[in-house]
Parts: sequence; structure tokens; C-alpha cells
Amino acid sequence: MKKFENLLYSIHNNICIITINRPDKLNALTRLTVQEIGEALKEALDDASVKGLILTGSGTKAFVAGADISEFLGLSPEEGKKMAHAGQSIFDRIEQSTKPVIAAVNGFALGGGCELAMACHLRVASDNARFGQPEVNLGLIPGYGGTQRLVRYIGKSKALELLMTADMINAQEALELGLINHLTTIENLIPKCIEIMDKIMTKSPLAIAGVIRSVNSYYASGTIGFDTELDEFGKCFGTEDYKEGTSAFLQKRKPSFSGKKLKH
Ligand code: COA
Repeated sequence: MKKFENLLYSIHNNICIITINRPDKLNALTRLTVQEIGEALKEALDDASVKGLILTGSGTKAFVAGADISEFLGLSPEEGKKMAHAGQSIFDRIEQSTKPVIAAVNGFALGGGCELAMACHLRVASDNARFGQPEVNLGLIPGYGGTQRLVRYIGKSKALELLMTADMINAQEALELGLINHLTTIENLIPKCIEIMDKIMTKSPLAIAGVIRSVNSYYASGTIGFDTELDEFGKCFGTEDYKEGTSAFLQKRKPSFSGKKLKH
């Protein structure tokens, strides 16, 4: 079994548990972490003993608090777009996985964390979970499919509100909006995911794969939005606002946006 720098990987009773493991940075996704998620996914999909996957975060505070903001500094629009493209394609592979994938959301699921949870087939959250797409606080937009999947789960109106205000919602609201499937205690989070997965695993894996492919194809004609998101995400890196927003976060101060493009 491959060793990962930023993930824990284990298999119990045919279920692969992938844990994002950077708890001191609230499991924020570096480029390496995203790449490793792709590698772990491939390993689990290639392993005939694995019948389903659970994705979770290390510790009890965060599932994933977003992409690692420190890696945004100094990116050009092309580099920003390339980074988002890498993330989008790995998250797409999660969604297209013909083995079921459940996100066990054990705390903050913000930005790339909310996007990662949304790429999974089902979401179970603990009562301390918080969801949001706070990228506009940084002068950015989501780049890992958030503008597309959030609309699919909760509808245009509420998605626009969350995307434009950067508001966080708690697990109860996420349940009411249909963003998550179940809400439970932190202690019961993994057991609840295993209970659901055990039920799915009693069914025909071929039929389950057929369900996933069919449901995904419902949205296949709407994939152009993912390309728009990549273009718009990339463009953000040509602005004063992204520099101000990311620097302000790292300096632990409030940003002040000018709405200006970078001078060349
Ligand atoms: N990228 C990089 N580092 C991050 C991070 C991210 N997305 N989210 C949290 N961290 C780091 C913090 O910088 C801090 O590091 P430090 O201890 O070296 O200073 C550590 O994780 C703990 O976070 P902290 O902000 O001190 O915890 P908190 O309880 O005060 O606040 C959050 C928690 C989730 C509200 C806050 O961390 C946050 O807003 N994170 C960014 C969310 C975001 O914008 N995500 C989208 C990114 S595109």
C-alpha cells in the first residue's frame, strides 16, 4: 500500500477510509493533498476488495477548511486556472467513481472542503459541521466545481446567496437545504457512514454503478459551467483584489477591496 504525506488510508470490511490529515491547518488542501486524493482514489478503485469509500478529515474541528490559501500567493491567471483544472478533474473522478463515495463531514467544510464533500455521492455531517464557499472574502470564486454543484444541490437562489455573502451554514440548515443526507453526532459519524455503506454493499455492485452513471448523466449536458468557472477563477488571479484578500487572510486582518485589475 502506498504511503501518503497528507492522507491516512485504511481498509476495514471492504470500506476504504481516506482521511485528509493536516489537522494543524484544518486539513486545508495543498496541491499535493489534492494530487494524493486522486492517487488514493485510484488505489481504492483498482483494489477489488474495496466496495465503497468514505472521505473524512483528521481531528474534530474540520473536514477541510478549503484550498491552502498560502499556495495562492503570486499565481498568474494561467497558473490559477491550471490549479483549478487539476482539482476539478480529480473531484470529477470522485463523482464519476462507480464505487459509492460518502463524505463524513466532521467540522468545517469550506471552499474546497465544501466542494470536495459535494463531489462525493452522499454527505453525512456531524452536528459541529459548517458549510460555506467563502472565496469572495479572498477576492476569488470557487474553482473546484463549487459554483456548479452547489446550485445542483440547493438551487440557484440559495447558492447565489451563499456564494456572494460567503455566509457559513450549520449542519441543520445544510440538512434542510438538501446539501447533506444525514446529520449525527461526531461520535456516530463514521458508524453512520459505515451503516449506509453496509446497506449499499448488500446490493449488486453492477446495479449501484449503473445508478451512479445514470444519475450523473442527468447533469452531463450542463458541464459547460465547469469551464466557465475555470476561466473566471483564473481571471481572479489578475486582480488587486485576490492579492489583497489572500494577504489579508494570512495576515489575520480584514481585506479592503479596490475592484482593480493588476497593472502589468
Ligand atoms: N488555507 C491555509 N491555511 C488555513 C486555511 C486555509 N484554507 N484554513 C485554516 N488555515 C490555517 C490558519 O491559517 C491557521 O494556521 P496558523 O495556526 O499557522 O495561523 C490554522 O489553520 C487554524 O486556523 P484558524 O483560522 O486559526 O482557526 P479559527 O478557528 O480561528 O478559524 C476558520 C477557522 C475555518 C473560520 C478559518 O480558519 C478560515 O476562515 N479559514 C479559511 C476558510 C476559507 O476561506 N476557505 C476557502 C479557501 S479558498
